[in-house]
Amino acid sequence: MSTRVDPADGLRGELRPPTDKSLSHRAAILGAMATGSVRVRGYLEAADTNSTLAAVRQLGARVGRDGDALVIAGVGLRGAVAPDAPIDVGNAGTLMRLLPGWLACQDGRSFTVDGDASIRRRPVDRIAEPLRRMGAGVEATDGRLPPFTVSGARLRPMTYEMPVASAQVKSCVLLAALGADGATTVSEPAPSRDHTERMLAAAGVDVRRDGRHITVSGVQELALDELVVPGDPSSAAFPLAAALIVPGSRVVLRAVGVNWTRSGFVRIVQRMGGDVRGGLEEPGDEIATTEPIADLEVAAGALQGTVVEPGEVPLAIDELPLVALLGCFAEGETVVRGAQELRLKESDRIATVVDGLRGLGGSIEATDDGFVVTGTGGLRGGRISSHGDHRLAMLGAVAGLASREGVEVVGMDAAAVSYPRFERDLSTLAAT
Ligand code: S3P
Repeated sequence: MSTRVDPADGLRGELRPPTDKSLSHRAAILGAMATGSVRVRGYLEAADTNSTLAAVRQLGARVGRDGDALVIAGVGLRGAVAPDAPIDVGNAGTLMRLLPGWLACQDGRSFTVDGDASIRRRPVDRIAEPLRRMGAGVEATDGRLPPFTVSGARLRPMTYEMPVASAQVKSCVLLAALGADGATTVSEPAPSRDHTERMLAAAGVDVRRDGRHITVSGVQELALDELVVPGDPSSAAFPLAAALIVPGSRVVLRAVGVNWTRSGFVRIVQRMGGDVRGGLEEPGDEIATTEPIADLEVAAGALQGTVVEPGEVPLAIDELPLVALLGCFAEGETVVRGAQELRLKESDRIATVVDGLRGLGGSIEATDDGFVVTGTGGLRGGRISSHGDHRLAMLGAVAGLASREGVEVVGMDAAAVSYPRFERDLSTLAAT
């Protein structure tokens, strides 16, 4: 499917971005692990998070509705049912890497996990290694890829030094640690999103952060009451970026999650001189039990290039393609370093972003661990492929609105993975 996006005169008005994908995956998984029912308000309705609901149903959880809330009746920490068919995670990397943490606690049962073509090139050795150290069995294709099988066991607690700053790996280990007898400590090289820690703290689990070390104690059972999912800052980043680079724009994004471990992009944009206002949460060691929200006001204006350093990367990982786009519109050079993880996302996002933006007239070079963009104040436009990657599809559409000649996005339907209303929301802002 190919979609043409014409240059816009200015974006105006307000919108409420879709609710958070990361938090929705976690809410469904923790809901299924819990004893009793959990109400989830604001569960994201999109392809990825539907895969999570299907997966937890396959494992025995019941999922119903009560008004606009989702009600998940869990099977308990050690009660997952071994299904007859493989668990299909679709395109959802977060589901693929978090769920095995729970599956590893199912003593004596085995589970096979598979997904779409993009999932089959995404490594699982990063979770297999710590789960094996805790006592579970993990057999992966070619030693590192899906499909893979997790064999549950009585898990041992451990101390684990993560080789990559990945919230998915951290969360997988924290979920497995709930089923282990004792306290497990995970050390991350740099802070990454802490939604799992917050939800566990809200469930009364003993979870603490001390600098880069997170310690969680095993539990007998998990009880959660209600979870509220705020707007997704990674989805909001697309209309936000559009409002920065389409001249004359002024947009308000309502009820966006502003957890400090997700606000890296807004901080980078502010450093580039971007006019974004709203109360971001300040960093800290304390694990909050809630997710803060704020309205973000954005206006178009001049941008300067910046350098994104490795320590900032996990706090803005999914928005780095947009940093490259903004770099094309900025004055001077924009450099992203230490972001080799981008090569392991829904597409190789260093390659697809660099090829895509070059095809639209951008001056951008790939490096091993990021990219270097030379700003020229704008983009000509042209044709870009999403490569089946939702964030590339949305990047192309935003580029189209701000380009001189418009952009044809091939594979726009990929946006449905996280932001089904995306095209409609952008046209509303463009028409207001
Ligand atoms: C996610 C963590 C990030 C991010 C992904 C969602 C999560 O992946 O890219 O879209 O929900 O934990 P990594 O933790 O592997 O970097």
